Amino acid sequence: MTGRFVTFEGIDGAGKSSHIEALAQWLRARGHEVLVTREPGGTPLAERLREVVLGEPMDTLTELLLVFAARRDHLAGQILPALSRGATVLCDRFTDATFAYQGAGRGFDTSRIEVLEQWVQEGRQPDLTLWFDLPAPVAAARRGAARAPDRFESEDEAFFARVHEGYEARARSHPGRFVRIDAAGAPDVVWQQVVSAAAARRWW
Ligand code: TYD
Repeated sequence: MTGRFVTFEGIDGAGKSSHIEALAQWLRARGHEVLVTREPGGTPLAERLREVVLGEPMDTLTELLLVFAARRDHLAGQILPALSRGATVLCDRFTDATFAYQGAGRGFDTSRIEVLEQWVQEGRQPDLTLWFDLPAPVAAARRGAARAPDRFESEDEAFFARVHEGYEARARSHPGRFVRIDAAGAPDVVWQQVVSAAAARRWW
């Protein structure tokens, strides 16, 4: 028995977080075990690495390695055990974020990211990726000044435009797994797209 692995992606401010919780409720109401988790993070060690990655200045290779170190711990300690007991895993960001942020955003060589992906994931990929697509300027306006920005949130609009392009490229190259959610609408309009994408898979 293998559960389904669903990831949520999009630039900061795209508004995916509330929909992750709503989809977890929708699945639990159908009697499924659901693990809601996030990256970087999801285990005590990976949460510590998250604090470092989001808070400490570092070069791009260090950032990339820490993100994958956190991912390895998360996969081994949480995601793979949950999938093998048949649970659905809903993960706020995964490796597509690394291609978008460290690859497209920071300009890091994609082929090196692919090597680390292979090492760390050993072929394991999400079954479904919901990509909350929102233009970078709209996302920036939504982020506003609500809280102290972390190392990524304090990047400029050009960085987020590159990250957005990075997600577009990932969606194009993985059409079977990616579903584009138009994140520009009202929350209930966005939710309708999320629930339709889930229901269309007929997994639950
Ligand atoms: P995010 O998941 O958006 O959490 P919050 O809503 O609490 O800010 O923040 C995580 C940040 O980490 C986000 O800016 C993207 C970044 N990130 C990467 O750069 N690479 C990665 O591989 C992952 C998973 C996240």
